[in-house]
Amino acid sequence: MLKVLQHPLITHKLTQMRKKETKTKDFRQNLDEIAGLMAYEITRDLPMKDVEIETPITSFTTQEMEKDIVLVPILRAGLGMVNGISNLIPTVKIAHIGLYRDEETLEPHTYFEKYPKKVSDAIVMIVDPMLATGGSAIAAIDMVKKQGAKNIRLVCLVGAPEGVHAVEEKHPDVDIYLAALDEKLNEHGYIVPGLGDAGDRIFGTQ
Ligand code: PRP
Ligand code: URA
Repeated sequence: MLKVLQHPLITHKLTQMRKKETKTKDFRQNLDEIAGLMAYEITRDLPMKDVEIETPITSFTTQEMEKDIVLVPILRAGLGMVNGISNLIPTVKIAHIGLYRDEETLEPHTYFEKYPKKVSDAIVMIVDPMLATGGSAIAAIDMVKKQGAKNIRLVCLVGAPEGVHAVEEKHPDVDIYLAALDEKLNEHGYIVPGLGDAGDRIFGTQ
């Protein structure tokens, strides 16, 4: 399933990120805020369990989240989405997957992975601002599946149709959430219109 999360605040903030003159500080802040807004929608169907509590007035049956949530940023750029989501869900555990895309071949290369325990029972949210060819997302999904993950959501800011189709074909069980579905990839594998190199813009390395 592909869901493009359309909301005026998300669109406005994404527009600021797309502008080439937007500086690192504002780029980072807008990404953080969009990630938080996306978290609200992505968690709408989380499984809940009944719990008995005591309020200061009476006992009461209400609900709490049933499952652990594991956030998996794809380094580097995925780190820019962690604060916005973990501010809303402070109990998240955070895995890390280090991948970089070879600039010539566009193939993803793994350089780091670290997971919390019990990934297999958790709801796993892989986060990365850019879904271009889909190579990095597919590799990250392969990696969390090897850890036993079964309930996986891929959360990206901007996606290209090529990347969406590639992930859907390889991992049809994974739900994809985007803030925008862009037009295409260019000959260098960059998303058009896109926002440029997300990692470089977040970390000021351009
Ligand atoms: C970017 C982006 C994704 C990947 C998307 O990372 O953050 O991880 O490219 O491209 P794909 O869908 O074609 O795989 P990059 O490899 O530039 O590394 P960085 O985050 O360290 O800048
Ligand atoms: N990675 C990025 O950071 N931007 C793109 O447009 C494609 C891949």
